[in-house]
Amino acid sequence: MTGRTWSLWNREFDSPVILASGTAGFGFELMDMGYLDGVAAVISKATTLRPRKGNPPPRIVETRFGLLNSVGLANPGVEEVVTRILPEASALPVPLIVNVAGETEQEFASVVEMLEKSPVPFGYEINVSCPNVSEGGVAFGASPSTVERVSRLVGQTSSRPFSVKLTPNEGSITESALAAQEGGAGAVTVCNTFLGMTVDWRTGMIPLERKVGGYSSPALLPLTVARVHITCQAVDIPVLASGGVSRPEDVLELLAAGASMVQVGTWLMRRPGSGAELRDGVLELLEDVSP
Ligand code: FUM
Repeated sequence: MTGRTWSLWNREFDSPVILASGTAGFGFELMDMGYLDGVAAVISKATTLRPRKGNPPPRIVETRFGLLNSVGLANPGVEEVVTRILPEASALPVPLIVNVAGETEQEFASVVEMLEKSPVPFGYEINVSCPNVSEGGVAFGASPSTVERVSRLVGQTSSRPFSVKLTPNEGSITESALAAQEGGAGAVTVCNTFLGMTVDWRTGMIPLERKVGGYSSPALLPLTVARVHITCQAVDIPVLASGGVSRPEDVLELLAAGASMVQVGTWLMRRPGSGAELRDGVLELLEDVSP
C-alpha cells in the first residue's frame, strides 16, 4: 500500500473506486464473489416508495460497443429495503450509499425519511436521471428548478450527505449541478447513462419495449471526462464520475479532470473483480509517476 487516500463526506478511503448503482445489487449479494475487493463504497440499485416490477424483458441488450439497459427501476420498495435488505447489508465491509428514485418531488423525501430509520446507509444518491421511466426520471434531472427543490426536500429530511445523479440527456449539466449544490447536495454524480437505441435493420424489430434505453460503454469515457471537467469548474461540492471506466488509466483521467471519486458499472459485468483491478492499477501507476 502507498498510503494514498481519497475522501468523500469526511471519510478517507484507500481506493477511489465506487461500484455504480444498478450493477451490484445492495452489495451483500456479491460479497463472496470478489466484487467488493478494492472498492471504497457501493451504491445500491434504486429504491422507490412502492415496489416496482420494472420494464418487461428484455431489459439488457448488448450492442457492438456497450450495453443498453431498460430495467425501469425494478425494486421491492423502501419498506422491504429497510426491514429486510438493509439489515443484511449491515454485514458489508464497505459503506453503502442508497440510490433513491421517486415519481414526484415529495416521494424522494418520503423514501429518504424511511431510509433514515436504518443505521446502515452512509449516504444517498438521488436519482433524478433514470432514462427508463415515464415519471420522475430524466425530465426531473433536466430541470434545474426541480433538481433544486428535490435536493432541498431531501436535505430537510436527511441526516446524511447525498449526491444528486445528473442526466447527460437533456438540459445543462452545469446548471443542474449548481441547482443541486444550491439545494444542499453534498455531491453530484456525473452522470447517468446516455439515451440509446438499437434496431434490427432486417426486421425493423426494436428489442426494448420503451425503444430507447440507457447506453453505457467504455466508449463513453471522453463524454464523461468533458462533463466532469465542466461540472467541476461550476460547483464546489465533490463530483463523483460515472461513465466509461474500464481501466486504471480511466480512473486517473477522471480524477485529473476533477472528480473526487470514480464509479465503475458496466465493466463489472465483464470483470467482476474490477474494483481491485482498478484500485491496484491506480496505485501502481501513481507509484510509477512518483518522484
Ligand atoms: O432502468 C433503470 O432502472 C435504470 C436506472 C438508471 O439508470 O438510473
